[in-house]
Amino acid sequence: MKNIVLIGFMGVGKGSIVREVVKHSKYIAVDTDDLIESMQNRKIKSIFEEDGEAYFRKIEKKISKWLQKSVTNSLISTGGGFYKVKNLKKIGIIVLLDSPFDEIIKSIKSHSNAVNKLKKRPLLSDLQKAKELYDLRRPEYLALADIVINVTNKSISQCSEELIKKVKKDA
Ligand code: S3P
Repeated sequence: MKNIVLIGFMGVGKGSIVREVVKHSKYIAVDTDDLIESMQNRKIKSIFEEDGEAYFRKIEKKISKWLQKSVTNSLISTGGGFYKVKNLKKIGIIVLLDSPFDEIIKSIKSHSNAVNKLKKRPLLSDLQKAKELYDLRRPEYLALADIVINVTNKSISQCSEELIKKVKKDA
């Protein structure tokens, strides 16, 4: 079983969808941000504050090499900037979770723990800058994706079913 790698902008629901899909499949859930936090024994927010974004990107690269070499049968959720690693396509089938910027922000804000969701993501602290980042990244996400799932106004379980169906077709 090839890995499936979920990419997409912050807050689009990569982690939630992975957790739902693994309930109904043999895949193992892996999350690049969780790996980084456990490797470093500190939160992403602290890594950004103490060592800066460039340092964080270096750890992402290290993780990407390890994933390619050592991980199989996994459904991998990635941080929104992880797609920049050179070997992304070698890790597995790339699935983009896609939604317009305003819809993503609306959905984050409607969560009961919205404050935390925004606080833990340094690159969402300035929404104007985040929108610019989104506009820059979206064409790059699309260019890398083997499969695109539009998640706007869909439930986690609808997205999860769509992912399973589309991956079966693609495999
Ligand atoms: C980032 C996204 C975050 C996390 C870090 C940087 C990005 O993950 O990796 O804050 O560059 O878009 P999520 O996409 O899970 O929020």
